[in-house]
Amino acid sequence: MTAPSQHDSLADPPADSPAVRPSFDVDRARRETPGTREVTHLNNAGAALAPAVVLETMVGHLQLEAQVGGYEAAAAVGAASEAVYGSVAQLIGAAPHEIALAESATRAWDMAFYAFGLGPDDVVVTGESEYSSNVLAFLHRARRTGATVRLVPNDQAGQIDVAALERTLDELGTRAALVSLTHVPTSNGLVSPAAAVGEVTRRAGVPFLLDACQSVGQLAVDVTTIGCDLLSATGRKYLRAPRGTGFLYVSDRIRDRLDPPFIDLHAAEWVAEDRYTLRDDARRFESWEAGVAARLGLGAAVDYALGWGMDAIEARVGALAARLREQLATVPGVVVRDTGEHRCGIVTFDVAGRDADDVVAQLRRARVNTSVARAASARLDLGRRGVGDVVRASVHYYNTDAELDLLISLLSDLVAGRAG
Ligand SMILES: Cc1ncc(COP(=O)(O)O)c(C=O)c1O
Repeated sequence: MTAPSQHDSLADPPADSPAVRPSFDVDRARRETPGTREVTHLNNAGAALAPAVVLETMVGHLQLEAQVGGYEAAAAVGAASEAVYGSVAQLIGAAPHEIALAESATRAWDMAFYAFGLGPDDVVVTGESEYSSNVLAFLHRARRTGATVRLVPNDQAGQIDVAALERTLDELGTRAALVSLTHVPTSNGLVSPAAAVGEVTRRAGVPFLLDACQSVGQLAVDVTTIGCDLLSATGRKYLRAPRGTGFLYVSDRIRDRLDPPFIDLHAAEWVAEDRYTLRDDARRFESWEAGVAARLGLGAAVDYALGWGMDAIEARVGALAARLREQLATVPGVVVRDTGEHRCGIVTFDVAGRDADDVVAQLRRARVNTSVARAASARLDLGRRGVGDVVRASVHYYNTDAELDLLISLLSDLVAGRAG
């Protein structure tokens, strides 16, 4: 596959402007990311480009499986597989035995949420940025158990109102079964005030489940600083790991109070004909079967991110996104839709008179990848704000000023009717 000429210059990008973290070795990041030579990838909130080391790790294991057999290959890489738990734990400030690996963020989150024994008196407390699948699970459980869902409103800045949350938990007392919060929503550049929420939930003694699917890999996320009891994340987005990977953090504080919704011979031991005992670590939330190559790829991606340093990644991604928001504000008809006091690498906007799908399709023709965040999947966020579908451009540290300039110039052409 060859890149169109306008991207040739991006294969070896010039050093970024001093405004965007000159200390970050973007040239190296791009050399180590084959996809940057093919596309302008601004869909990192969908699935980021994998670094070469992730690709090599996975392909290497698939070859081993083909040569010696799947179980035999797994045995040969036992230590490396085990090390993945240590890497993930280090990334989020947990202990390795508090990590369960999963095939997606949703499955990881489901394993935690469906482990709460809800009844008709119980209330699930959440915010307006909650991820669509999580809300569907609340509605599903509510229908089955009679539990109710309480929505805490946003504050003026468009993020969860922490004072209102505190009042809600005071009012509900022991009826509050858990607080579920999405750290970075799929359809908004906002970073929810997770640590402030953690402070409130700890004070109230209510379990705190954090959906960190979009934040892990772009922000320095630490479970102790945040004070969450459970955290779910994916591999394929900002962590740059393969698809089909995810993980769940289950703190020691809460593990034994939860009952996994499914168990198998990996999660539990069948100790007598009529009895089993659960594993004594977070892996009671896993299943036996797993894609070993993908898991090794996840470990390689986490180690790679740790090699750059999460603080450096967060600063670089944040600076690029801030630059992009500023540039977008200069394009006539383009409105940035991000809310919140603290913003991240996800940038959402709409273009007057243009359907978000059309904009994304036009950009794709120029090999610029963005995506659409749908109002129908963000009814509590975009829906309540009266915003329709938005274009989502999500930057990563390997993106360059030149790539952002290209996006802006394509959008300007689109608005001026010079494209399409
Ligand atoms: C905030 C958030 N949570 C959860 C998910 C679900 O992740 P997965 O598709 O890995 O299950 C997504 C996916 O976009 C997301 O943006």
